[in-house]
Amino acid sequence: MPLTELLEKPLQFIMFGGKGGVGKTSMSAATALGFAKEYAKRRKNDKVLIFTTDPAPSLADSFGQKIGNEPTQIEGAKNLFAMEIDAKKVLEEFKKEYGEDILDILQEGTYLANEEAEELFSLDIPGLDEVMGLKKITDFMDSQEFGLYIVDTAPTGHTLRLLTLPELLDDWIKFLASLRWKYHAMVRQFAREERVTKADQFLLEMKKTVKKVRELLQDEKRTEFIVVTIAESMGVRETEDLISTLEKFHIPSRHIIINNIFPKEDSDFAKFKRKNQEKYINEIKKKFSNHAITEVLLQADEIQGIKSLESLGKQLFV
Ligand SMILES: Nc1ncnc2c1ncn2[C@@H]1O[C@H](COP(=O)(O)OP(=O)(O)OP(=O)(O)O)[C@@H](O)[C@H]1O
Ligand SMILES: [Mg+2]
Repeated sequence: MPLTELLEKPLQFIMFGGKGGVGKTSMSAATALGFAKEYAKRRKNDKVLIFTTDPAPSLADSFGQKIGNEPTQIEGAKNLFAMEIDAKKVLEEFKKEYGEDILDILQEGTYLANEEAEELFSLDIPGLDEVMGLKKITDFMDSQEFGLYIVDTAPTGHTLRLLTLPELLDDWIKFLASLRWKYHAMVRQFAREERVTKADQFLLEMKKTVKKVRELLQDEKRTEFIVVTIAESMGVRETEDLISTLEKFHIPSRHIIINNIFPKEDSDFAKFKRKNQEKYINEIKKKFSNHAITEVLLQADEIQGIKSLESLGKQLFV
């Protein structure tokens, strides 16, 4: 069953994930274009934003135009915008904004010397850059500038890490909060009144962000994670891993796209490949019988530019 049914849902957030090179970027770009066209017809005020947190982004290749780290309008699709988030840069901005507060917490709670605290803070907290990327999106959502957000994720390993980040970040906040608590306990021994400092406000804000990201990722009404795969044994295995992680984190996922299927052609090679692929297509259908499966044929040319994305979209929105 194709993605057409998604057009009827009040979705706000669609993520595409799967192993390297299976067609995540192509599928997410074609889907974004399909939604933008539909919105132009019936939800004129709603714009679509497609973005990627992939450190090696390729949306620009897919759309055949330059894309910046702020929403860039796609030529030929008035209500479609794309953005390549440089997560490292977002993290730098975050550090500039909150660095002092985090240092405050580390110093007050642990009596570390300045240089020691700075060293601790400069340690890369795994995945913090990506959380900040997602935070950027929740900030956009608050501004209600776009009606739908589509994420082209980096290959599976990276995506799984991204999904576990709210938990990771939560641990990190708990750690900082426990330092805060020690500090406050000490202050209470000497003074009656407790000040709410900037550092406390920072912790509160981070907690809210984590909560927001988690709620969004787990919201059945607003969110859909579409798994892209190919009809090979590795593809089946990676799909199993990805779907079980999605289940573990309660992230709604009801669609699988099987890409690069050989067309039914007369050549012996195509026949042989197709027959082999059908074995895996059937295995995927059987294993994930609760998922809607969309099959996409291998095209003669690579997917590049609006025209080729539109033609790909015909297979997604039948
Ligand atoms: N159905 C298809 N027919 C022909 N070419 C395709 C098809 N799907 C994808 N491609 C091509 O395969 C290559 C990889 O596709 P794409 O970049 O979408 O994959 P990806 O999963 O995003 O890769 P990565 O993991 O590197 O981000 C691209 O050159 C794309 O044009
Ligand atoms: Mg890609």
